[in-house]
Amino acid sequence: MLIVKEIAELQNLIRKEKGLGNSIGFVPTMGALHAGHLSLVNIASKQTDFVVASIFVNPTQFNDKNDLANYPRKLDSDLKKLEETSCKLVFAPEVSTMYPKEDNRQFNFGELETVMEGKYRPGHFNGVAQVVSKLFEMVTPDKAFFGLKDFQQLAVIKAMVKQLKLPVEIIPCPTMREHDGLAMSSRNQRLTDEQRKNAPHIYKTLVEARNKASEISVEELKVWVSQKIDENVFLETEYFEIVDEEQLKPISSWDEPVNKVACIAVFCDKIRLIDNIAIQ
Ligand code: PAJ
Repeated sequence: MLIVKEIAELQNLIRKEKGLGNSIGFVPTMGALHAGHLSLVNIASKQTDFVVASIFVNPTQFNDKNDLANYPRKLDSDLKKLEETSCKLVFAPEVSTMYPKEDNRQFNFGELETVMEGKYRPGHFNGVAQVVSKLFEMVTPDKAFFGLKDFQQLAVIKAMVKQLKLPVEIIPCPTMREHDGLAMSSRNQRLTDEQRKNAPHIYKTLVEARNKASEISVEELKVWVSQKIDENVFLETEYFEIVDEEQLKPISSWDEPVNKVACIAVFCDKIRLIDNIAIQ
């Protein structure tokens, strides 16, 4: 597995692979890798010839500087984990390499960035679009792989690819969970033992909500979920929203003829966890 920090070297190696007729699969990450990230690499290696992963904690997508400072950085152990997968190249640039000068680009994703994560993390998706568009330009992948765990991010990336007319196919990948249902996340490492024991209550509640959906109205379900989460003293709901799968517009009736996804953000003290579930 090749480990590269500079853009010119990355591009030389990718040009060589493309010259050999190999397709490029790309898995962007911020490191602190877990089995969820590795599952994306695994899916990528089944669909493309040469898998590139990036590890870069992107400062422009953190609206909370504390969160950026506390984000786990574990390059050595991340590289060891990737060595055991079919990843062929890891791109792990410095901040000055990705942002030699300030990126002032302002994307417009309309409603996609005003609901849910967009509402509570202003500027977050603009930062994600900045870094992912730069990475796409550098890696020039045929396919790029993103987790459904970050459902809204996936929608934003698809919109960005469309707006910038980039020749890359975006592949959604299923959410990997711990045995007790908690969605895997780099942030889980920061939970205390007690918080970790209580965090699975989030997904359990989402599953119950999915099963209850036909019995009560959308509004009633929203109230029920927030109350159910907040009953647990370790958890506090930031938002719970039921949206259509494509535009992420909040729905008000089960009769709306769209695929529906229930999305939630929950604080476990200062640690913010997100999850979602499809509702039929
Ligand atoms: P990060 O949080 O490291 O996630 C990298 C990729 O792994 C994303 O596509 C995310 O959806 C996916 N992922 C995270 N947890 C997962 C899980 N439990 N199961 C399946 N996939 C999972 O998302 C980012 O980094 C950044 O915003 C990034 C796109 C790299 C831009 O900086």
